[in-house]
Amino acid sequence: MQQNMVQVNDLAKSFKRQNGETVFAVKGVSFTIGKGEIFSLLGPNGAGKTTTISMISGLLTPTRGDATIGGYSITKQPLQAKNLLGVVPQEIALYLALSARQNLEFFGKMYGLGGAELKKRVDEVLDFIDLTDRQHDKVETFSGGMKRRVNIGVGLLHRPQLIYMDEPTVGIDPQNRRRVLDTVLRLRQEMGMTVLYTSHLMEEVQEISDRVAIVDHGEIIAVGTVGELIQKIGEEDRLIFNVGAQLVPETLLKKITAEIPGVTTAEYQRHDIPEGTVTDSLEIGSGEIVVMAKRGRKALPQIIQMADEAGINVVSVSVREPDLEAVFLALTGRALRD
Ligand SMILES: Nc1ncnc2c1ncn2[C@@H]1O[C@H](COP(=O)(O)OP(=O)(O)OP(=O)(O)O)[C@@H](O)[C@H]1O
Ligand SMILES: [Mg+2]
Repeated sequence: MQQNMVQVNDLAKSFKRQNGETVFAVKGVSFTIGKGEIFSLLGPNGAGKTTTISMISGLLTPTRGDATIGGYSITKQPLQAKNLLGVVPQEIALYLALSARQNLEFFGKMYGLGGAELKKRVDEVLDFIDLTDRQHDKVETFSGGMKRRVNIGVGLLHRPQLIYMDEPTVGIDPQNRRRVLDTVLRLRQEMGMTVLYTSHLMEEVQEISDRVAIVDHGEIIAVGTVGELIQKIGEEDRLIFNVGAQLVPETLLKKITAEIPGVTTAEYQRHDIPEGTVTDSLEIGSGEIVVMAKRGRKALPQIIQMADEAGINVVSVSVREPDLEAVFLALTGRALRD
């Protein structure tokens, strides 16, 4: 039996525009996050992600609805609820003239820690964010990714059971982004923490999340594992068979579509080398068989064999599985990146 860490019931928030009109930024969202789960809110700018999280973390009072953290209501038992929550805000909130260690000590004292316990936790956190060797350097000498790791460290000092991170990889280089994502995974693995993550970056959400809620115009339009979300839209895998310069007969394409389970379409696409290109390759242009299929990997060997029987030698194969971008597009008719 999985226990819920977070339970959100019909949470809504309206704001008054300057013209007096009331608009709902969040229109009544409900979801649960299991203990030890990495749960992400994914949605475009203005979807209502930050507003939702701000209500859960006690920064905004809900217009309607409620949420519990570890069983404590955010409206009726806000102190107990907040005590279980660590927040890593998007804006870096550190003292640049202080060292990493001094920052952690400062924020630890704000949480009411002191003495040997504070020292122990600061040591632990420095080790976890892998900055023990730089702990005495001023934060102003750190890279963006290192600052981000100190910021995460601050959120961990009071050993919360749930940590909330708002777009923690924005504005940092790929290598440091990788380290932040690894840190998120280790929070769960090594500390058993529950993570609530927001991002508009489909790739990273897809990689780290156990479950994802897709948010659009203040509503959750779909929630589930990446696999479940993709299944929901019935999206197919795209299989690409490189056949070099060989010409693929129409009969082979028809046979693949008719006889292999899961296949919906099979096409031959030829990329001719533009005229005037100098090449010492024997190949004159290259071609691909492109197959759309449900559970595409299963169909691979059969397709290769069928091609072989038709005298076509498959040079290489690639499989492109459907992603959250495709899910968002199918559900909203818009691309996530717009
Ligand atoms: N204090 C406020 N007053 C009025 N409207 C607000 C306020 N805060 C947010 N909104 C509106 O609520 C909607 C949702 O905003 P929110 O910040 O939650 O989106 P988001 O999903 O976090 O977007 P982003 O990816 O850009 O951070 C937006 O239309 C925004 O303009
Ligand atoms: Mg936001």
